[in-house]
Amino acid sequence: MVGHKPIQNTDAELPDRQGFAHFMLKEIYEQPEVVRRCLAAYLKPDWDGQDASVLSTPFNLALPEQVSANVAEIQIVACGTSRHAGLVAQYWLEQLAGIPTRVRSASEFVSGPFPLRANTLTIAVTQSGETADTLAAIAVAKRRSPSDASLQSWSLGITNQPESSLSKAVDYIFPTLAGVEIGVAATKTFLSQLVVFCCLALEFALRRRALSVQDAMPLIGALRSLPDQIETLLNQQHEPIQMLAKIIADTKDCIVLGRGINHAIALEGALKLKETTYLHAEGYASGEFMHGPIALLDATVSVIAIAPAGTVYASMLANARKVKANRAPLIGITNASTQADHAMFDHLLTVPATDERLSPLLTVIPLQLLAYAIAVQRSFDVDRPRNITKTLLT
Ligand code: G6P
Repeated sequence: MVGHKPIQNTDAELPDRQGFAHFMLKEIYEQPEVVRRCLAAYLKPDWDGQDASVLSTPFNLALPEQVSANVAEIQIVACGTSRHAGLVAQYWLEQLAGIPTRVRSASEFVSGPFPLRANTLTIAVTQSGETADTLAAIAVAKRRSPSDASLQSWSLGITNQPESSLSKAVDYIFPTLAGVEIGVAATKTFLSQLVVFCCLALEFALRRRALSVQDAMPLIGALRSLPDQIETLLNQQHEPIQMLAKIIADTKDCIVLGRGINHAIALEGALKLKETTYLHAEGYASGEFMHGPIALLDATVSVIAIAPAGTVYASMLANARKVKANRAPLIGITNASTQADHAMFDHLLTVPATDERLSPLLTVIPLQLLAYAIAVQRSFDVDRPRNITKTLLT
């Protein structure tokens, strides 16, 4: 079902489901192509790291050297799924590029903006480019720009709609090139936001020499492998997830746990479940869940543990063991090959192996598929969930 057809990023694209039962499923399956397109636009195909100049990076990002050299702090404003992309990006910008980064819901930023600091880059993320709260937040950030010209500030928009109101409000715009997304629950636009953010964080990391070319090369290689890996994941996990959805469709509550960079994916997975299935779902930082919320667990609460191989694997498994001891049905999402550990999970969804720091680009996909499959099981209108709209204009 994974297609290789080019997807035009124009409104002229026909609203045709191309054989898929729903737009959300079609858009999930377009993700390999979307990532391919983003990488073709933002990552130079032939860069080999041989040019030692700081101005030579593997990325095509139209951001002046003055910004990458001087930015002292980044503030990200966004809503919903786009905010979760910002939270993944915070990890990359801080851990790869060493730039202190704060993320705030756009609606909260308006009433309580971060204290003004010199050399701040404000990034607004919105697939539609029209979300009222995000536009208001960027307006507040711009109004508060330091009057002293030596204390610079810049604004950048990351959006799937480069002609939107956001583009007129910011200094720089990076289109996410995901093509038209019709399903209200964002899927491919989220993944494309992550790809753009990852390129940006690596660009900053290389230009600021926070990361050596040698250390960046494996990450760039891993990025290039993503489209094929997503295809594999979609082909391998479609059926198991359909089965799992049938088993857990009547669950009362669902908890999604993640650590480190996958905490944001736990939040996003829970949001997808809420939006499409109307299940009560919450995402938690796995360690924090043990400090109280674990009291919620019993046999009627399903828990999904995102446990990729790497620095958080052992602690995720330790938390999962405690979940299991409380009789909660336990679902694992992992790329670790340690079979002995897998026995503890009632259901295991495997994703292809990659660098832990890029794992969110893969771990989110089973959660999208699961949310979709449970919504179908429950006979809900997957593409147009109740009470929410694609873009909140007021
Ligand atoms: C609405 C949608 C959410 C979406 C959010 C942000 O609330 O229901 O699914 O994540 O807006 O949208 P944006 O266009 O700003 O990314």
